[in-house]
Order: sequence, then C-alpha cells, then structure tokens
Amino acid sequence: MIREMLKEKQEIINHRLGELLVPDRKEHKTLYDAMNYSLMAGGKRIRPFLLLTVLEVLGKDSAPYVDAACALECIHTYSLIHDDLPAMDNDDYRRGRLTNHKVFGAGMATQAGDGLLTFAFQLLAEDPHIPEEIKPRLISIAARAAGPAGMVGGQAHDMESENRDLSLAELKILDASKTGCLLAAPVEMAAVLAGAGEEDRKALADFASHLGLLFQITDDLLDEKGNLEEMGKMPGQDEKDHKSTFVTILGADKAQHYAEEEAAKAKEALGRLSRPADVLAELVDLMVNRKK
Ligand code: IPE
Ligand code: IPE
Ligand code: MG
Ligand code: MG
Ligand code: MG
Repeated sequence: MIREMLKEKQEIINHRLGELLVPDRKEHKTLYDAMNYSLMAGGKRIRPFLLLTVLEVLGKDSAPYVDAACALECIHTYSLIHDDLPAMDNDDYRRGRLTNHKVFGAGMATQAGDGLLTFAFQLLAEDPHIPEEIKPRLISIAARAAGPAGMVGGQAHDMESENRDLSLAELKILDASKTGCLLAAPVEMAAVLAGAGEEDRKALADFASHLGLLFQITDDLLDEKGNLEEMGKMPGQDEKDHKSTFVTILGADKAQHYAEEEAAKAKEALGRLSRPADVLAELVDLMVNRKK
C-alpha cells in the first residue's frame, strides 16, 4: 500500500513542481534551467509526501495543500544543491545526474539554490489555499526548520565536524538539525493545517523526530553499502570527506540496529495518535530498509 501511495503522491507533486518555475524573462532562463534541473531530477519527495499524508491521516483533504508541500521540496532541493558544492561535500552525482555545479558551474548552482529557497517562501506567502490567519505560523515553521537553528545550523556543524571524531551524542544533535528539522516541518505544518489537538501534535512531533534520525542513519548506511544506480548519488562520499557518521561511530551492524530502534520508537509514537496511521507506520518500515 505504501509504495502505491508514495507513487501516487509523487506524481501529484512532480506535476505541480513542473509548473512552478517558469522564467519571467529570457535573461533569467539559465537560472530557471538550473533550478528545474535539480528539482525535476526525481528524488523521493518524502517531505511533501509527509505533509500531504499527515493531513489525510488527520482527516483533512490534502489536495488544496500541494503548493505548501512543493515549497518544502524546493527548500530541500536547494539544500542538496548547496550540500554538493565543491566548498561543501564536493559531490559529482545527485538524483541520477551530474550535480548542479558540474553542469551550471558553482556560481550558478549557488544562485539556483538561493532562488529555490526564496521561491519556497514566496509560494507559501502567496498561497490562496492556506487560511490567512495560520499562514504566518506555517511560514515560521518552515523558516525555523530551514534556517540557522535548523538545517543550515546542522550543515555548518557538519562542516566543522570534518576530520574530527564526534561522540554519538554530538552526532545526534548534528543530525537532528541537518536532517531532522526539514522532515519534522511538514508533519508540524500538517498538524497546524488540520487543527490537530495537543496530544496528537505531541505524538506527531515524537514520530517526526525518530523518523528524522532513522532517515539520516540509513543515509549514512547507504553511503557505506549503497550504489550509484539505485541511489542516484555516489557512495563512499563520507569517507572521502572525513565525516563522522553513524557508520564510522557504531559500525554498520550497530547502525542498522540503531535505525531499527528509532523505527520502533517512531511507530510507538504513531500508536499514541487519536487516528489510525498505518500508512505512516509503513513509511517507517520502508525507510529502515531503503535502497535509495
Ligand atoms: C538526502 O535527502 C539528504 C538527506 C537529508 C539525508 P533524500 O534522501 O530525501 O534525497 P532525495 O530528495 O530523495 O533526492
Ligand atoms: C546532507 O547530508 C543533508 C542536507 C541538509 C542536504 P548528507 O551530506 O549526508 O546528504 P547526501 O548523502 O549528500 O545526500
Ligand atoms: Mg553533507
Ligand atoms: Mg552530502
Ligand atoms: Mg549522506
């Protein structure tokens, strides 16, 4: 069921993403080409999927909120373009293609990332489907998750951790910001849009924080044992960049076990929701055993 649901939502998201970034003038064409190059290269669309699916779990129609979901995918894609830059992880492949800077150059790739980030907030601010009284809260959730106390903070911490042996406790702090925040944002935004009660909001926040950690542990595992064909990005990059990861700290077997424990905790949190959330539990299982 989860695979079909993911595919169905991916199609909706991809269709809308494909309509969003149209150059306003011919002078901006290269920039838009660069933004669309990474945005439309595939990707699992987990963050927008979470926004739409949590809304449905909470009994709300998700159709009006596709643009809000797409805004998060724009932010995430920007983070990937910048993550791959020569001054950061210096990677050559992403989503089955050469990285943005390999095709457009580092300067244009930087602009493409900046453009996607800023456009995401334009999309949220101008979205006629989001009730005006809750719009500032949604923008605030997205901004906090993406910004210095969220993903960007985690990325800066990650840069400063190269060539340094991190403790497990420090790595968990790093990953909660770097990856956890942008996975929690869609869950929290959906809870606000659906007007979820306090207990449900708490259960969903716990679910998201365990899912976030699980997601980065499996990302670290795939860097160790995955392959370019399935992942669309090159394995072995963490070693090349001298990163501390769950695999370097715990070893692959213990890291996998840790991922399974996080999955159990994520599902336990879902069990506290006032509504059935089987599809989210299935997503958790899919993420523990993912190949991409
Ligand atoms: C990769 O994210 C970067 C991390 C935060 C671990 P995804 O694994 O969601 O990448 P795409 O969107 O599917 O390409
Ligand atoms: C990056 O983590 C997370 C982001 C905020 C983009 P990684 O550097 O491990 O992501 P990949 O493995 O390159 O996708
Ligand atoms: Mg990185
Ligand atoms: Mg990277
Ligand atoms: Mg990685």
